[in-house]
Amino acid sequence: MLVLGIESTCDEMGVSIVRSGIEILSNVTYSQIALHREYGGVFPEMAARKHVETFIPVLEEAMKVAGVTAEEIDLIAVAQGPGLVGSLLIGLHAAKTLALAWNKPLVGVNHVQAHLYAAMMSHKTWNFPALGVVISGGHTYLSMLTSPVKEELIGTTIDDAVGEAFDKVAVLLGLSYPGGPLVEKLAKTGEKGRFPLKAGRVKERPWDFSYSGLKTQVLYASKELREEDKAHLAASFQEVALRDVVDKATKAVENFNLDSVYVGGGVSNNMRLRELFSEKMKGRAVYFPSPELTLDNAAMIAGLGYHLWLEGYREDPLSLEPIPRIIPRHRRSSREASCGSSSEKHSLCFS
Ligand code: KG4
Ligand code: ZN
Repeated sequence: MLVLGIESTCDEMGVSIVRSGIEILSNVTYSQIALHREYGGVFPEMAARKHVETFIPVLEEAMKVAGVTAEEIDLIAVAQGPGLVGSLLIGLHAAKTLALAWNKPLVGVNHVQAHLYAAMMSHKTWNFPALGVVISGGHTYLSMLTSPVKEELIGTTIDDAVGEAFDKVAVLLGLSYPGGPLVEKLAKTGEKGRFPLKAGRVKERPWDFSYSGLKTQVLYASKELREEDKAHLAASFQEVALRDVVDKATKAVENFNLDSVYVGGGVSNNMRLRELFSEKMKGRAVYFPSPELTLDNAAMIAGLGYHLWLEGYREDPLSLEPIPRIIPRHRRSSREASCGSSSEKHSLCFS
């Protein structure tokens, strides 16, 4: 079964052709990083306009590299959210148009869940029940995975995502966008214990995260900072931010008795994070996405779309809507179930 995936949640336009959820025939991404760099972050209106220009060339390239024709495609999968609404609309319109013009079924995919699928796809392993660790620019959460499409939330951030904290700290240190890789590079030459920073705690919610306090500590420490101390501050921040993720993840696998860990999202690129995981999770399999599947891409969308299709999900190409904000449903309470009644049954709500 050949699935054509489309990703356009933020500033990357991606089209990929994947066979049976696993074999990547093509995975083409047009990144707009250079366009947004001067603004220190993604400029939403410009991102959407650029997606309009880049969709057709990216689609043509993906079809050419895969060596397939429109008739051979069996399913269209598109990232339905979360993301920037203007960006999502372009990918969704493109997907709906192809589904109607080529007469193919359509599924909407949760972009963050697809980040976790990227790790499954990279290792071709299904080892459930597992812990899902999403650490991206927009999301930070822990979930219990029982299949590629089923997850229940364990804990999430109450303010910034960890990648967002890296990006904001990068600005404070005078680095460019996106800041995560640059903070990691600078941290390599610094001492991680030099600045006494503390991870955020959320009262009576041991699985939740908070990064705004840590960011404020870096803000104060960065005032009148000597040039030679920048690397120490980067290393101290990185250590505290990543240890918080790995400590909570380690406690979660023990507490919920989970067999393995799937990590997804841009921050999973970080080598110090990978080191901390291997130090702490002794004996447990921790799966990271392969480098080409770590950042936003359409292969993970096509891959997860295949599994949604197997589970019976189908969308009407005339009524599929973007969902810019998806708040996952919490394990033990309904307090965060806010997917809305119309989309309540959809996989995006976290079944
Ligand atoms: O998953 P992603 O491509 O986009 C979202 O869906 O949000 O993640 C992008 C985020 C950015 O915040 C970026 O700074 C961060 O991932 N990132 C890193 C590293 N590489 C990317 N953070 C820390 N260390 C890295 N090496
Ligand atoms: Zn992403």
